[in-house]
Amino acid sequence: MRQTGRDSIAIVPAAPERVRNNDVHYPYRQDSDFHYLTGFGEPEAVAVLVPGRPHGEYVLFVRDRDPERETWDGKRAGPDGATKVFAADDAFPISDIDEILPGLLENQARVYYAMGTHPEFDQRVVGWVNGLRTQARDGRHAPQEMVALDHVLHDMRLYKTRAELVLMRESARIAAGAHVRAMRFAKPGRNEYEVMAELLHEFGRHHCETSYYPIVGGGANGCILHYHENDAPLRDGDLLLIDAGCEVGCYASDITRTFPINGRFTRQQRAVYDVVLEANLAAIAAVKPGAHWNAPHEAAVKVITHGLVRLGLLKGRTAQLQQKLAYRKYYMHRTGHWLGLDVHDVGDYKVGDEWRVLEPGMVLTIEPGIYIAPGLRGVPPRFRGIGIRIEDDVVVTPDGCEVLTSGVPKDPAEIEALMAARR
Ligand code: GLY
Ligand code: MN
Ligand code: MN
Repeated sequence: MRQTGRDSIAIVPAAPERVRNNDVHYPYRQDSDFHYLTGFGEPEAVAVLVPGRPHGEYVLFVRDRDPERETWDGKRAGPDGATKVFAADDAFPISDIDEILPGLLENQARVYYAMGTHPEFDQRVVGWVNGLRTQARDGRHAPQEMVALDHVLHDMRLYKTRAELVLMRESARIAAGAHVRAMRFAKPGRNEYEVMAELLHEFGRHHCETSYYPIVGGGANGCILHYHENDAPLRDGDLLLIDAGCEVGCYASDITRTFPINGRFTRQQRAVYDVVLEANLAAIAAVKPGAHWNAPHEAAVKVITHGLVRLGLLKGRTAQLQQKLAYRKYYMHRTGHWLGLDVHDVGDYKVGDEWRVLEPGMVLTIEPGIYIAPGLRGVPPRFRGIGIRIEDDVVVTPDGCEVLTSGVPKDPAEIEALMAARR
C-alpha cells in the first residue's frame, strides 16, 4: 500500500477452481500473488487493498459460512474467520461483492490489477469500472488509470524474507530426501513410473505437493527436456535423469540429479558428467551480490564449451565456439530461473537493457546440462543417448550464496557410495 499510494486501490482475486473432467476438479492451488498477500487458501475470494480507508485498509471477500455446502465441500473460514484468523481489517461475503466493490473504487485515481492472469475476472473488474463511468452525472467518479499490479508485487516477491526462506529450505530439504530415496530405489528392471511413485510418496508423507510434474527419464529419455511419459523400463548401463521438486506452504523446490541405474558410471558417462558438474560448481561460484543475472550462465557455458572440445564433441577454438554459441547443439536451455511461490518465479531478469544485479534474498536455480540425443549428427556412437543435468537451488547471501539442495549428493563418488549401500 505504501507503493501504490493513497488514491489507489489494488484488487487481487483467488485462483478459480479448474475442471479436470465431468464433475471432477484438479487439486486446488491458490494463486501465488493472492497467497503472498493473504495466506488464505480458499477459492472464490478477492483481496482488496484500500490505503487510508477508515473502516479498514485490507478487505477480504470470502465465501460465506454455509452448513449445507460445508457438508459437501469442507470447512470455510467465512468473513468472521477472514478477520479473526487471516487478519483482514474488514471482510464481506463474496456474494455481496457487486454491491460493495464499486463503492470502494469510487473516487480512486488508480486501480492496481494484474490484467490477463484470470480472464473471467478481468471482465468483472472492467464491469465495475464501466458501471461507475455511466454514473458520472450522479457525481460518482470512476478510476482513470489501470496499473499493472504485477510490477509492484513481483518485485516484492523476488526478495525473500527470512520467513519465506525457512519454507524454501524445508521444501529443498524434503525434495533432496526424495531424490536420495529415488537413488536408493532405482535399479535395472524397475520402471520410471515406479521411481516417480517413490518421489510422490516421499512428498506426500511430508504433506507436500509436487511443484511441477516430475521428469523421470532413463537413458535417451534424459535428452528430452520436458519428458513426461515416465513409463519406460530402466536399463542396465543407462543413466537416469530425475527433475522433481515439491512445495512447502506453496514455496517450490526444483532439483535435478542424474545417476547410473546400476550404481556405477561408465567411463563415457563419467566424462560427460564431470563437465556438467564442473559447470554447476562454476555457476554456483558466480552467484554473489553485485554479479549480474547472466554471470552464472556465462560461467557454465564457458566450462561446457571447454568440456565439449575436450570430449571431441566440438572442434575448434574455445573462444570462437563460445561466440558462435556452438554449445547450443548440446546445451539448449539457460542455466536457471528465479524460484519461489512459482517454480519459474516472477521477477524481471533485465532492468532496461541490462541484466539484473543479484542481491541478498533472491533465490534462483543453477541447472546446466549436456544432452546428446541418439539421432544427433557428427557424434561418436559411444556418447549417444547420454543426457545429464545437475540442478540446485541457491539463495544469494551477503557474501555469496547458500545452496539449499545439498541434501542429495552430486559428487559421482558420493552417488556411487550411496547406491552401493542400497542392497
Ligand atoms: N523443472 C523445471 C525446471 O527445471 O525449470
Ligand atoms: Mn529449474
Ligand atoms: Mn527442474
